[in-house]
Amino acid sequence: MIIHKAKDYEDMSRKAANIISAQIIMKPKAVLGLATGATPTGVYRQLIERYQKGDVDFSQIATVNLDEYKGLSSNNKQSYHYFMNRYLFDHVNINKGNTYMPNGLEEDEAFECNRYNEIIHSIGGIDLQLLGIGENGHIGFNEPGEVFEKGTHCVALAEHTIKVNAKFFSSVKEVPTHAYSMGIKNIMSANKILLIAFGVSKAKALYDSLFGPIVPNAPASILQLHNDVTVVADEEALSLV
Ligand code: PGA
Repeated sequence: MIIHKAKDYEDMSRKAANIISAQIIMKPKAVLGLATGATPTGVYRQLIERYQKGDVDFSQIATVNLDEYKGLSSNNKQSYHYFMNRYLFDHVNINKGNTYMPNGLEEDEAFECNRYNEIIHSIGGIDLQLLGIGENGHIGFNEPGEVFEKGTHCVALAEHTIKVNAKFFSSVKEVPTHAYSMGIKNIMSANKILLIAFGVSKAKALYDSLFGPIVPNAPASILQLHNDVTVVADEEALSLV
């Protein structure tokens, strides 16, 4: 595991974008696993800048996202579909036909989970998976629990996650209670993993994940078993390390 300490949010974003850009340059047909949330927006801004400068080309890139809220359509402003278009896809030369997300409107959970697992498999697996980390140690929406969820699943969001994510909605009542999420096995099958974290609110989760016991109650702790993980986090997020 490689840990890069960043000075601040901009530095974290730039360092992470360097790694993603290198992946795209080394493998123009790469499959990128992408994440949403407050942490990666700066990374996406940096990638757009690199695209505008002519340094990275998304034309052959495919993407799969970690998760989507159940019940939200792709044009709902709170959906992760909408987020990805707004913060990255609308601004680079990616073929949107090659960008994949769980379908939040699919009611049949078994069908949707199976469909998404099949997509990940059919595009050849993930070359580089970008991850944020929740204050409770979740990756994707793999919440702390009794077991590591393997494949794509429909998850009941933890109360803490709903509270934290309420900042993106007009009230906590509007936060969906369920989401489709790529499972730990999907994430662990990626060739490389890039975990980004920012701010003191992530310090405990980051420390426990990187150095604590590998337990499903700290979902990100499973990353200790992956052989190619790079962590880019600012000084505050790394303050306990
Ligand atoms: P955040 O979310 O980037 O909004 O902090 C990260 C996560 O919950 O995985």
